[in-house]
Amino acid sequence: MSEEKSVIDSEVIIQQIVMPNDTNPNNTIFGGVVMSWVDMAAAMVAERHSQKHVVTVHIDDITFLSPIKVGDHVSVKAQINYVGKSSMLIGCKVVAENPRTGDKRHTTSAYLTFVALNDVGRPTEIPGIKVESEEEKRRFKEGMARVKAQKDKRKTKK
Ligand SMILES: CC(C)(COP(=O)(O)OP(=O)(O)OC[C@H]1O[C@@H](n2cnc3c(N)ncnc32)[C@H](O)[C@@H]1OP(=O)(O)O)[C@@H](O)C(=O)NCCC(=O)NCCS
Repeated sequence: MSEEKSVIDSEVIIQQIVMPNDTNPNNTIFGGVVMSWVDMAAAMVAERHSQKHVVTVHIDDITFLSPIKVGDHVSVKAQINYVGKSSMLIGCKVVAENPRTGDKRHTTSAYLTFVALNDVGRPTEIPGIKVESEEEKRRFKEGMARVKAQKDKRKTKK
Protein backbone atom coordinates (compact mmCIF):
# COMPACT_ATOMS: atom_id res chain seq x y z
CA MET A 1 0.00 0.00 0.00
CA SER A 2 1.40 3.44 -0.89
CA GLU A 3 1.64 6.40 1.53
CA GLU A 4 -1.40 7.04 3.74
CA LYS A 5 -3.61 10.06 3.01
CA SER A 6 -5.67 12.23 5.37
CA VAL A 7 -9.46 11.93 5.42
CA ILE A 8 -9.89 15.69 5.10
CA ASP A 9 -7.93 15.79 1.81
CA SER A 10 -10.63 13.89 -0.08
CA GLU A 11 -13.72 15.23 1.75
CA VAL A 12 -16.47 16.59 -0.52
CA ILE A 13 -19.49 18.78 0.22
CA ILE A 14 -21.90 19.36 -2.64
CA GLN A 15 -24.74 21.86 -2.41
CA GLN A 16 -27.96 21.74 -4.41
CA ILE A 17 -31.28 23.56 -4.50
CA VAL A 18 -34.34 21.35 -4.95
CA MET A 19 -36.09 22.27 -8.21
CA PRO A 20 -39.63 21.19 -9.23
CA ASN A 21 -38.11 18.63 -11.64
CA ASP A 22 -36.48 16.84 -8.68
CA THR A 23 -39.76 16.16 -6.89
CA ASN A 24 -42.53 13.56 -6.77
CA PRO A 25 -46.29 14.32 -6.90
CA ASN A 26 -46.18 15.33 -3.17
CA ASN A 27 -43.73 18.18 -3.93
CA THR A 28 -41.06 16.42 -1.90
CA ILE A 29 -37.84 15.17 -3.39
CA PHE A 30 -37.75 11.95 -5.39
CA GLY A 31 -35.52 9.42 -3.55
CA GLY A 32 -33.57 8.59 -6.74
CA VAL A 33 -32.42 12.23 -7.01
CA VAL A 34 -30.99 12.12 -3.48
CA MET A 35 -29.34 8.78 -4.28
CA SER A 36 -27.68 10.21 -7.40
CA TRP A 37 -26.33 13.22 -5.43
CA VAL A 38 -25.02 10.86 -2.73
CA ASP A 39 -23.42 8.56 -5.35
CA MET A 40 -21.81 11.56 -7.07
CA ALA A 41 -20.37 13.07 -3.88
CA ALA A 42 -19.05 9.68 -2.72
CA ALA A 43 -17.53 8.94 -6.15
CA MET A 44 -15.69 12.28 -6.02
CA VAL A 45 -14.23 11.34 -2.62
CA ALA A 46 -13.16 7.90 -3.91
CA GLU A 47 -11.52 9.44 -7.01
CA ARG A 48 -9.73 12.09 -4.97
CA HIS A 49 -8.41 9.53 -2.52
CA SER A 50 -7.33 6.87 -5.02
CA GLN A 51 -6.58 9.11 -8.02
CA LYS A 52 -7.98 6.26 -10.16
CA HIS A 53 -11.17 5.49 -12.04
CA VAL A 54 -13.71 4.18 -9.54
CA VAL A 55 -17.00 2.27 -9.66
CA THR A 56 -19.77 1.92 -7.10
CA VAL A 57 -19.92 -1.71 -6.03
CA HIS A 58 -22.30 -1.54 -3.06
CA ILE A 59 -24.69 0.88 -1.34
CA ASP A 60 -25.48 0.11 2.27
CA ASP A 61 -28.04 1.33 4.70
CA ILE A 62 -29.59 4.28 2.86
CA THR A 63 -32.22 5.81 5.13
CA PHE A 64 -34.61 8.68 4.40
CA LEU A 65 -35.35 10.23 7.79
CA SER A 66 -37.49 13.21 6.79
CA PRO A 67 -38.84 14.69 3.53
CA ILE A 68 -36.98 17.38 1.56
CA LYS A 69 -39.19 20.06 -0.01
CA VAL A 70 -38.98 22.01 -3.26
CA GLY A 71 -36.83 25.13 -2.68
CA ASP A 72 -34.84 23.54 0.18
CA HIS A 73 -31.05 23.84 0.05
CA VAL A 74 -29.41 20.44 0.33
CA SER A 75 -25.85 19.67 1.31
CA VAL A 76 -24.28 16.26 0.85
CA LYS A 77 -21.14 15.70 2.90
CA ALA A 78 -19.06 12.68 1.94
CA GLN A 79 -15.98 11.38 3.74
CA ILE A 80 -13.81 8.31 3.42
CA ASN A 81 -14.32 6.08 6.47
CA TYR A 82 -12.34 2.94 5.74
CA VAL A 83 -10.16 1.45 3.00
CA GLY A 84 -9.30 -2.09 2.01
CA LYS A 85 -6.82 -3.12 -0.68
CA SER A 86 -8.78 -1.68 -3.61
CA SER A 87 -12.09 -0.72 -1.99
CA MET A 88 -13.15 2.42 -0.15
CA LEU A 89 -16.09 2.84 2.23
CA ILE A 90 -17.52 6.35 1.98
CA GLY A 91 -20.00 7.73 4.52
CA CYS A 92 -22.51 10.36 3.35
CA LYS A 93 -24.72 12.67 5.36
CA VAL A 94 -27.46 14.73 3.72
CA VAL A 95 -28.75 17.88 5.42
CA ALA A 96 -31.69 19.94 4.10
CA GLU A 97 -32.14 23.60 4.99
CA ASN A 98 -35.18 25.81 4.59
CA PRO A 99 -33.45 29.02 3.38
CA ARG A 100 -36.31 31.23 4.69
CA THR A 101 -36.24 29.96 8.27
CA GLY A 102 -32.67 28.58 8.50
CA ASP A 103 -34.14 25.33 9.87
CA LYS A 104 -31.73 22.43 9.15
CA ARG A 105 -32.62 18.72 9.16
CA HIS A 106 -30.47 15.62 8.83
CA THR A 107 -32.48 13.79 6.17
CA THR A 108 -30.40 10.91 4.82
CA SER A 109 -27.38 8.79 5.67
CA ALA A 110 -25.69 6.20 3.48
CA TYR A 111 -22.52 4.13 3.17
CA LEU A 112 -21.15 3.42 -0.29
CA THR A 113 -18.35 1.10 -1.36
CA PHE A 114 -16.25 2.03 -4.39
CA VAL A 115 -13.51 0.01 -6.05
CA ALA A 116 -10.54 1.64 -7.78
CA LEU A 117 -9.77 0.21 -11.20
CA ASN A 118 -6.57 0.00 -13.24
CA ASP A 119 -6.28 0.63 -16.97
CA VAL A 120 -7.75 -2.77 -17.82
CA GLY A 121 -10.72 -2.36 -15.49
CA ARG A 122 -9.49 -4.61 -12.66
CA PRO A 123 -9.30 -3.68 -8.95
CA THR A 124 -6.05 -1.92 -8.09
CA GLU A 125 -4.28 -1.03 -4.86
CA ILE A 126 -5.02 2.31 -3.22
CA PRO A 127 -3.40 4.43 -0.47
CA GLY A 128 -4.37 3.83 3.15
CA ILE A 129 -6.01 6.50 5.33
CA LYS A 130 -4.49 8.42 8.20
CA VAL A 131 -7.14 8.55 10.91
CA GLU A 132 -6.44 11.56 13.10
CA SER A 133 -9.46 12.76 15.10
CA GLU A 134 -11.47 10.66 17.55
CA GLU A 135 -14.40 10.88 15.11
CA GLU A 136 -12.27 9.52 12.24
CA LYS A 137 -11.02 6.71 14.49
CA ARG A 138 -14.61 5.80 15.44
CA ARG A 139 -15.72 5.81 11.77
CA PHE A 140 -12.71 3.68 10.79
CA LYS A 141 -13.54 1.09 13.45
CA GLU A 142 -17.23 1.02 12.48
CA GLY A 143 -16.23 0.88 8.78
CA MET A 144 -14.02 -2.13 9.40
CA ALA A 145 -16.95 -3.94 11.08
CA ARG A 146 -19.30 -2.95 8.23
CA VAL A 147 -16.90 -4.24 5.55
CA LYS A 148 -16.44 -7.50 7.46
CA ALA A 149 -20.24 -7.89 7.73
CA GLN A 150 -20.59 -7.25 3.96
CA LYS A 151 -17.95 -9.90 3.21
CA ASP A 152 -19.62 -12.44 5.51
CA LYS A 153 -22.98 -11.77 3.83
CA ARG A 154 -21.45 -12.28 0.37
CA LYS A 155 -19.90 -15.57 1.49
CA THR A 156 -23.25 -16.91 2.73
CA LYS A 157 -24.90 -15.93 -0.60
CA LYS A 158 -22.36 -17.95 -2.66
C1 LIG B 1 -15.96 -3.69 -8.94
C2 LIG B 1 -15.59 -4.98 -9.64
C3 LIG B 1 -14.54 -4.70 -10.74
C4 LIG B 1 -14.99 -5.92 -8.58
O1 LIG B 1 -14.66 -7.12 -9.21
P1 LIG B 1 -14.40 -8.45 -8.36
O2 LIG B 1 -14.01 -9.51 -9.31
O3 LIG B 1 -15.54 -8.66 -7.42
O4 LIG B 1 -13.12 -8.05 -7.54
P2 LIG B 1 -12.56 -8.66 -6.20
O5 LIG B 1 -13.29 -9.89 -5.76
O6 LIG B 1 -11.07 -8.74 -6.40
O7 LIG B 1 -12.90 -7.52 -5.13
C5 LIG B 1 -12.26 -6.26 -5.21
C6 LIG B 1 -12.67 -5.45 -4.00
O8 LIG B 1 -14.06 -5.13 -4.09
C7 LIG B 1 -14.71 -5.53 -2.90
N1 LIG B 1 -16.06 -5.96 -3.29
C8 LIG B 1 -16.38 -6.77 -4.31
N2 LIG B 1 -17.72 -6.93 -4.35
C9 LIG B 1 -18.23 -6.20 -3.34
C10 LIG B 1 -19.55 -5.96 -2.85
N3 LIG B 1 -20.62 -6.51 -3.40
N4 LIG B 1 -19.71 -5.15 -1.78
C11 LIG B 1 -18.64 -4.57 -1.18
N5 LIG B 1 -17.35 -4.75 -1.60
C12 LIG B 1 -17.17 -5.57 -2.66
C13 LIG B 1 -13.88 -6.68 -2.35
O9 LIG B 1 -14.08 -6.85 -0.96
C14 LIG B 1 -12.49 -6.21 -2.68
O10 LIG B 1 -12.07 -5.25 -1.71
P3 LIG B 1 -10.52 -5.10 -1.25
O11 LIG B 1 -9.67 -5.09 -2.51
O12 LIG B 1 -10.46 -3.76 -0.58
O13 LIG B 1 -10.22 -6.23 -0.36
C15 LIG B 1 -16.83 -5.66 -10.31
O14 LIG B 1 -17.68 -6.15 -9.28
C16 LIG B 1 -17.62 -4.71 -11.18
O15 LIG B 1 -17.16 -4.32 -12.27
N6 LIG B 1 -18.82 -4.32 -10.77
C17 LIG B 1 -19.66 -3.39 -11.50
C18 LIG B 1 -19.41 -1.95 -11.03
C19 LIG B 1 -20.36 -1.00 -11.70
O16 LIG B 1 -20.57 -1.09 -12.88
N7 LIG B 1 -20.94 -0.10 -10.89
C20 LIG B 1 -22.06 0.72 -11.28
C21 LIG B 1 -21.72 1.90 -12.07
S1 LIG B 1 -20.43 2.89 -11.41
